[in-house]
Amino acid sequence: MCIEILRHKKKVLLLLLLTVAGSIIFYLYTLRLERDNASATSTSTTSRLEREISDLQALFESKVVPQLGDLGRPARRNWTAGERQAMAQSMRGVGFNSWLSQRISSERSLYDMRHRSCKKLEYSLEKLPSVSVVITYHDEEASVLLRTLSSLRNRTPILLLREIILVDDGSTNVDPKLSDFLQIKFLNMVKHHRLDTQVGLMKARVTGAQLALADVLVFLDSHVEVTQGWLEPLIAPILQNNRTCTTPIIDTIDYDNFAYRRGKPSRGFFNWEFNYIQLPLLKEEAVALPAPHKNPIMNGGLFAIGRQWFFDLGGYDKGLKIWGAEQFELSLKIWLCGGSILEVPCSRVGHLYRDPNFHIHYTHQNKESEKKVISRNYRRVAEVWLDDYKDKLFEKMPHLTVIQVGSLTEEKALKKRLHCKPFKWFLDQLGKDFLNLYPVVEPVDFAFGVLQSLASPKLCLDRSEGKPGQPKLSECPDDHTFPESELKWTLTNHRELRSGPVCLEKRNQQGDIYVFQCHGQMGNQFWSLNTTSQQVVHGQMGSSRRCLEIQPDAKGVTTRKCDSNNAKQRWKFGYKNNHRLQHFWDNVKTS
Ligand SMILES: *[C@@H]1O[C@H](CO)[C@@H](O)[C@H](O)[C@H]1NC(C)=O
Ligand SMILES: *[C@@H]1O[C@H](CO)[C@@H](O)[C@H](O)[C@H]1NC(C)=O
Ligand SMILES: *[C@@H]1O[C@H](CO)[C@@H](O)[C@H](O)[C@H]1NC(C)=O
Repeated sequence: MCIEILRHKKKVLLLLLLTVAGSIIFYLYTLRLERDNASATSTSTTSRLEREISDLQALFESKVVPQLGDLGRPARRNWTAGERQAMAQSMRGVGFNSWLSQRISSERSLYDMRHRSCKKLEYSLEKLPSVSVVITYHDEEASVLLRTLSSLRNRTPILLLREIILVDDGSTNVDPKLSDFLQIKFLNMVKHHRLDTQVGLMKARVTGAQLALADVLVFLDSHVEVTQGWLEPLIAPILQNNRTCTTPIIDTIDYDNFAYRRGKPSRGFFNWEFNYIQLPLLKEEAVALPAPHKNPIMNGGLFAIGRQWFFDLGGYDKGLKIWGAEQFELSLKIWLCGGSILEVPCSRVGHLYRDPNFHIHYTHQNKESEKKVISRNYRRVAEVWLDDYKDKLFEKMPHLTVIQVGSLTEEKALKKRLHCKPFKWFLDQLGKDFLNLYPVVEPVDFAFGVLQSLASPKLCLDRSEGKPGQPKLSECPDDHTFPESELKWTLTNHRELRSGPVCLEKRNQQGDIYVFQCHGQMGNQFWSLNTTSQQVVHGQMGSSRRCLEIQPDAKGVTTRKCDSNNAKQRWKFGYKNNHRLQHFWDNVKTS
């Protein structure tokens, strides 16, 4: 029995041994299998990820032509006829050459066009505040947006760039894969925030600002390129005074060939029709360049401001919709409620403007409702900030007086709470030269009525087009003082020759004359009368003046070198105010 058991025991032990060994082998085997499996899955994940990344890259960057547009040069190649056609089509679609944009690297280099003393300035990065850049966009072309972001990453000290907050304001035609691509290209630098329905520029910006973590906010448009050293000089003044807001010089990115062109320092303002205008620097400011100078009104999208100051001011007026007058509102608020705006010439940012002849094709109804929104914005800003001067605006734009503006309680309470100064203070402090050009009480005109040629006395200047864009000559009417509108010209206080909404301007070296919307900025629309020689003279500076000359055969006019013996240069106005004409050159620079 014992032996039986013993023998049996041996068998059991053997069995046990075999089982254990088998289990171990099986265990090791499965372990290995698992490991193999795991590594197999991880290779397939990596390669899938790599594939996705390269797919995204192909989607957004594969068309890039090396070196095209580098250094900000015009992007030119020997394009084929088909390619030119594609460009023209993209231009008609969005108002700039988006076909070409897709072929220019988002990492392209730019020529450093700063004043040489700007390059010598040194900043201690540890002392400067870091910034949150806030960019909002609606249906932006992806290649343009990518260039904006790449330029920011490449030309901003990483220590100063806390984050880029990118707010998609309800875009309808942006590739859904863009967000993934931004994630892999910019990792954590870009925080993409999507609003499902469009709320308009101001609300989208405030939303972005609310997400910001840094103490200084920099607002930019989604179609810009920042340049070498743009940020340090822009934020240094805010460190000095936390209620200072700064703006860069805005350079131009050409809508047709993406050339990067130098912009000029200027002082922004608005005229009595709420158009943004640029005034020249004051003498002492021009001498001190490139030191920062006061900028009465910012040019819209691009500025830096302390986050607390921005929110102390209530951000943008929440009652403003879509766009229009928001930069006037914020600028006035900053100045009148205890802050200031400086333009910083050492900081340069390029801005892509659309073709000025491009108009988004609204349906009639959309256009009407957009006009209404803008008018409403205008009236809100005027009611809250212009005091009695709003009447001046309403005189020029009477349709504003019938617009409903909604409640202004909050804005008026803010004005009271921050002890904001009256608009007159703004004009007195910052607008002396503005008031010379755009007086509150408009002086009477220098001359008006027909402009009759003394060489061919039957012919008068007619604003209706002869050749495209150019005025023609028509038979003079009986009444020379109050003729019908196409023949009525006025030499205005702006020193322009105006007929209805258009003014006479010289566009090129040959001296050809066109009719174009009056811009009120003198320049190529500056005209004077020489009452002695009866010449109508184009040009403000003595050295560049030319005289209006009739071309009877061509039934048009041109300008040529002034020659008082040339009868074709003699003209007669229906009515001249001789007293006013004696003061024509007062306060006007001639050299
Ligand atoms: C473009 O084409 C012209 C004429 O065919 C040629 O002379 C020129 O060298 C070409 N330029 C470039 C950059 O290829
Ligand atoms: C500016 O700085 C002072 C002093 O640190 C502080 O009391 C004030 O709240 C700041 N104001 C703004 C608008 O940032
Ligand atoms: C007007 O023309 C005469 C003759 O050419 C010239 O001597 C005179 O300087 C001109 N006047 C002005 C104000 O330009």
